[in-house]
Amino acid sequence: MQKLYYFGMAIKYNGNTKTFYLSGKSFAYVFGVNQFGYLQNYHFGKPVDVADDLSYMFVPVERGLAASIPDSAGRHNGLDTMPLEYPFFGGSDMRHGAFLSVSDTGLRQEDLRYKSHKITKDKPSIKGLPSLRRGGQTLIITLASKAVEVKLFYTVYEDCNTIARRTVIKNIGYKNLKLERVASLSLDLPNMNYDMVSLWGKHCGERHIERAPLRKGIQSVYSLRGASSPHFNPFLALCDPNADERQGNVIGISYIYGGNFLMSCECDFVGGTRIYAGFPDFDFGYNIHKGESFETPETALVFSDTGFGGMSRSYHDLYRGYLINPNFASNPRPIVINNWEATYFDFDDDKLCKIVDAAAPLGIDTFVLDDGWFGKRNSDTSGLGDWYVNKNKLHNGLTTIINRCKDKGMKFGLWFEPEMISEDSDLFRTHPEWRMQVPNAKPSPSRSQYVLNLSRQDVVDYLKQTLGDMLRTHDISYVKWDYNRHITDVHCTLLPPEKQQEILHRYMLGFYELVEYLTTTFPHVLFEGCSSGGGRFDPSMLPYFPQHWTSDNSDAWARTFIQYGTSLCYPLSSMAGHVSVCPNHQTGRNTPLESRGIMASLCAFGYELDISQMSDHERAIVKTQIEVYRRDISPLILNGDLYRLKSPFEGNLVNNSFAFLVVSKDKQKALLAYMQGTSECSPAPKTLKLDGLNPRQKYKLSRVHFDPATKNRKPLGGFPSAYTDSFDTIALSGSTLMSCGVPLPSFGWDFGAVMYLVEQV
Ligand code: GLA
Repeated sequence: MQKLYYFGMAIKYNGNTKTFYLSGKSFAYVFGVNQFGYLQNYHFGKPVDVADDLSYMFVPVERGLAASIPDSAGRHNGLDTMPLEYPFFGGSDMRHGAFLSVSDTGLRQEDLRYKSHKITKDKPSIKGLPSLRRGGQTLIITLASKAVEVKLFYTVYEDCNTIARRTVIKNIGYKNLKLERVASLSLDLPNMNYDMVSLWGKHCGERHIERAPLRKGIQSVYSLRGASSPHFNPFLALCDPNADERQGNVIGISYIYGGNFLMSCECDFVGGTRIYAGFPDFDFGYNIHKGESFETPETALVFSDTGFGGMSRSYHDLYRGYLINPNFASNPRPIVINNWEATYFDFDDDKLCKIVDAAAPLGIDTFVLDDGWFGKRNSDTSGLGDWYVNKNKLHNGLTTIINRCKDKGMKFGLWFEPEMISEDSDLFRTHPEWRMQVPNAKPSPSRSQYVLNLSRQDVVDYLKQTLGDMLRTHDISYVKWDYNRHITDVHCTLLPPEKQQEILHRYMLGFYELVEYLTTTFPHVLFEGCSSGGGRFDPSMLPYFPQHWTSDNSDAWARTFIQYGTSLCYPLSSMAGHVSVCPNHQTGRNTPLESRGIMASLCAFGYELDISQMSDHERAIVKTQIEVYRRDISPLILNGDLYRLKSPFEGNLVNNSFAFLVVSKDKQKALLAYMQGTSECSPAPKTLKLDGLNPRQKYKLSRVHFDPATKNRKPLGGFPSAYTDSFDTIALSGSTLMSCGVPLPSFGWDFGAVMYLVEQV
C-alpha cells in the first residue's frame, strides 16, 4: 500500500536507507546520508511515497577535471556535482559552499559529515533573532569535522507547505574559528530548468517583480547596506518556465533577517542549481571561541504546485499565523490619519487639532504625529536623537494634541527614528562616540543624518530607557518607527580589530533586542515599521511591526506595482496604505479619490493629507471608505486568501490594469478590486475570471459606490463609456464566475478603479 503523506507525521526517518522524509500538505523534501557520510538531497517537490528509497536519483558519472572520492565499487564520485544539503569549502566540491571558515591554526577546510540526528516534537527558539513561532516537529542533524559541529534545523509547517531551515555552528576544537560565509539554507536542485523571480526596487518604487530564466553561473540578490533595503528584498522564487498565478511548480525562499544578506542560485556545468541563503561573504566575519556557537537567521522555504498564487497564500498564512506579533496579526488595525504630507515640518497645536477635529467625525480612530515634534527639529538637518518634545512648536508638550484626540474619541500615535542621530543634536553633543564612524575620518551624511552604533550595548540600553520613558509618560497607542538611511563608516572602537567585521550583525542583534524589549514592555502599542517607505520591509520585522509603511510613494497607480510585488511574499495586512492628495506629492499624478481609497484599502488603511482642507463631497467619500473598510474590507485583508487576477507588470501604458480578489477562508465573502491604467477610446470589452470561490455556491456581486458622482460620470466629450453594473443584481455560481468571469467597466478617464463585494446568497 502506498504510504503517502499524512498529517502529524511531518518528519520520518528510514534507518535502513538512512533517508529523511519531510512532508507537508502537498510537498515532500527528501534527503539522506550517502555512503561517504555526506548529506545528499534526493527530492524537493510534489509528494512521494515514503516507502521508496530515492537514492537511485543520483547517478555518479566520471567527468573530466573532476576531483573525486572512489567508492567501494571503485567508481569515482565527484562532490562537484553531487546535490548536497550543506556543502562546505574544500574537498572536491568546487562550487560555492554554504560554509567557509578559517581557524586560528590557519586550517580552512572542514570535512562536514553526518554524525547524528534527532527529531523533536517542538521547535527550539533562536537566541536573539526573530523566527517563526509554534513550530511542530523539528529535525536536527549534526554534521561534524574534527573541530567544528554544524547543526541543521528543519521545522515543517505542514499546513503552509513550508520548511523553516537554519544552522548553528559550534567551535569544538579550535581556540578561535572565524566564520567567513554561513548559509541558513543551502539547497541543491537536480536541474536548472527554472525562472528566477526576485523583488528589486528603490525609494518610492519598492519590490517590483523581475523574472528571468536561470543561466549558467551565479545570479543573486543581496544587500551590503546594513539593512535588507528596498533595492533587493531577501526573497527569491524559482518556478517552472510556464508557471503563472494559477499553475506550475514554484519554490519560494524567504530569509528572515533585516541586515546584509546574500541569496543566490549557482548553475553548474551539468545544469544543477545550488541555492544559497545567508550572510554575504563580502565584509562578513564572525569569530567564535572554543565552545561557542553561532546561530544563523531562519529561512522559510515554500513549495507550491499551484503557481505563484499558491506560494503567496502559503507565505501569507505562515507569516500571519506564525511570525506577525499575535497581539495584532488578525485584529482590526487602527484607521489612521498621519500629518506628514499635510504639514511636513510646519505645524503647531492649532494645525494638528484642526486635522483631528476634521478626522474624528469621519470615523478615523488614530491620529499619528509624524516627524518634527522633538528636539530642534524644524527641518531634516537637526534634532534626531533628542526624543523630548519641541516646546517652541508644541508649547504644552504633547498634552494638547493627546487631549484633543481623547476628547474626540481618538487615539494618538507618534513618529520616532530611534536608530539615528543628527550632528546638530544634544545627543551628539553629549555622546559623539555613539555615532557609527571610522576614527579620524569624516563620516558620510545621508539626509543630513548618521546612524547610531547599535552594536554597542550602552546605545541599546539608552534607547530602551529613552523610548520607554516616552511611552510610559504619554498616552501613545501607536508608534511609527522610521529608519531613513543606510549604514556606512562601519567601525566600533569597543571591538578589537579581528571583530570589526562582526559589527553589522551585532547591530542587527542590538536592534532586535531593542524592539523585542519595547514591544513586550508595551504590548498594547502597535509599532509600524518604516524606512523611507518600504526600505526595510522584510520578514524579520513582522514579529515586532505587524505592518510596515509600504512606500513613500502614495500615488495609487504606482502603488499597484508596489503592492502587487510585495504581495508575492507578504500578507496584505503587513502593508500600510494611505490616501493622499492630488496632484500626488511623489509623482505629480492625478488619480480619483475613489481609486486612491481602493488601492489604500487593500492594506492596513489610513489617510495622509489635511482632512480639514477637504470639500464636503470629498469628506462624504472618505466617510464611506472608512465605513466599508471597517465592515467589509478589513476582515478580508486580515485573514482572507489573495488571488492576484491581473498584474500591472503585464501590458503597456494604455492597456494596463490591476486586479486583486480576496476571498474569506470559508469562501462566503470576497472583495474584488480593479484599477485601470490610462483610459482608451472605444475600448474592447474586458472580463476578469474570478478564482478561489466555491464552484457550487451562488454569489452576488455588488459594486461599492464610494463616490456617488462617478456612478453617472461620462468622459468629457460626452462619449459613452462601457461602464456596466448589469450583473450587480444577478446571483451567479462560483463555477460560472470562475469560468466565464465578470465584465469590467472601462472608465472614460485615467486610473479609474472599482470595488465589488462578492457575497454568498
Ligand atoms: C520617511 C517616511 C515618511 C515620513 C518621513 C519623515 O521618509 O517614510 O513617511 O515619516 O520619513 O521625515
